Amino acid sequence: MNISVIGSGYVGLITGACFAEFGLNVTCVDKDEKKVRLMKKGVISFYEPGLEELLQRNIRAGRIHFTTSIGEAVDSSLVVFIAVGTPPRGDGSAEMKYVEDVSKEIARHIKSYKVIVTKSTVPVGTGERVRRIISENLREEVDFDVVSNPEFLREGAGIEDFMRPNRVVIGASSNQAIAIMKDLYRPLYLIETPIVITDVKTAELIKYASNAFLATKISFINEIANLCERVGADVQTVAKAMGLDRRIGPKFLHAGPGYGGSCFPKDTLALLQIGKQHNVGLRVIEATVKANEFQKEKAAAGIIKTLGNLSDRTICILGLSFKPNTNDLRDAPSLFIIRRLLKAGAKVRAYDPVAMKDAKKDLPAVTYCRDAYEAAKGAHAVVIVTEWNQFRNLDFNRIRKVAKGDFFFDLRNIYEPAKLAGMGFKYYSIGRPPVQ
Ligand code: UGA
Repeated sequence: MNISVIGSGYVGLITGACFAEFGLNVTCVDKDEKKVRLMKKGVISFYEPGLEELLQRNIRAGRIHFTTSIGEAVDSSLVVFIAVGTPPRGDGSAEMKYVEDVSKEIARHIKSYKVIVTKSTVPVGTGERVRRIISENLREEVDFDVVSNPEFLREGAGIEDFMRPNRVVIGASSNQAIAIMKDLYRPLYLIETPIVITDVKTAELIKYASNAFLATKISFINEIANLCERVGADVQTVAKAMGLDRRIGPKFLHAGPGYGGSCFPKDTLALLQIGKQHNVGLRVIEATVKANEFQKEKAAAGIIKTLGNLSDRTICILGLSFKPNTNDLRDAPSLFIIRRLLKAGAKVRAYDPVAMKDAKKDLPAVTYCRDAYEAAKGAHAVVIVTEWNQFRNLDFNRIRKVAKGDFFFDLRNIYEPAKLAGMGFKYYSIGRPPVQ
């Protein structure tokens, strides 16, 4: 089967490359000519483990092609995925301009039956809107279906999530479109992936509800961590024991400096806007967003308060991306914390395995270093913000030798408090009792 994916960002490219790996013939479209030129050579502009290899393998096999022309892609495909961005607008609602523009352009090229699929995270009702836009812009009388097939890809683990998903959601109203969509995902039947078939609006809401729930789990455990700090309890054990209850589950109960990234902050705000438009109070999600803002603030304030006057202090930040295995800095807690530290007068030295190039544009005042030890040179405090694997086994003797001070803030709880205290660090983590 021939399919195309319009928008070759993170979601579009993983979708295209993985469907090509399933044996389909895929055309990926992007309006950025330079990006298309690079993708043809198997080069991508962001960091995602395994994606370049997957792309190159499928380019060699002749199963994936790149173009800037939506017309060319629509002409050659039965299924057309829309995977363009839906960035937040000033009020938090999703910007739908790109989805709408692409829908118009698709319509102009439809000459035979097509299934148009929204993959981007779009507000409830977008499927209907896309259907209307396409109907109004068709050049000839042809049949088409609009389907919602939301993605649940985690950055850094996107290929694994596509190849071994917990579920596939297909929202459609025609049996023909459902049959075609099921056919696309046939390789996943072998691993018995549950497929949820529903209507378009329900599928659209499943995506927002899933992300908002995960964000809520994180804000919940972060607030419990804050309470643990006051009462002298250990949030790691609280989370572990909670997670053993199968109704709760162990995932997304890791306390930290607040969630970031391109999805949770944006999707929670967009869902609040959807609630507002329909006059439905979403108080739990409101609280989740507020708790997350507080958590980032608290992480920065904790460092500032502990160190006192920051004007002659140097702080080493380990990890900049919003989570490991990605170079994505969107809404990263690190940016928030560093800005606060700089404002309080501190000098900041930082190291991240892949995100420094992008961080330099946002935070030119930071000194970017070769590795964790160079970043710790002369620092009064070391702060782990992102739990990259390479920070899980630091050489503490080396850090003690190069650093000026002995403060250590582990915002991801990756070390044992007793171990670090035993090595002479003044160790602070999230929601765990200090070592006496
Ligand atoms: C998230 C969802 O996990 C995906 O299912 C979804 O498809 C995607 O958004 C999207 O909408 O496209 P992602 O943003 O890549 O994926 O990252 P997550 O791994 O979910 O982490 C989000 C943030 O929560 C990170 O800042 C992470 O550090 C934080 N987090 C996560 C915690 O603070 N504690 C946890 O226990 C888990």
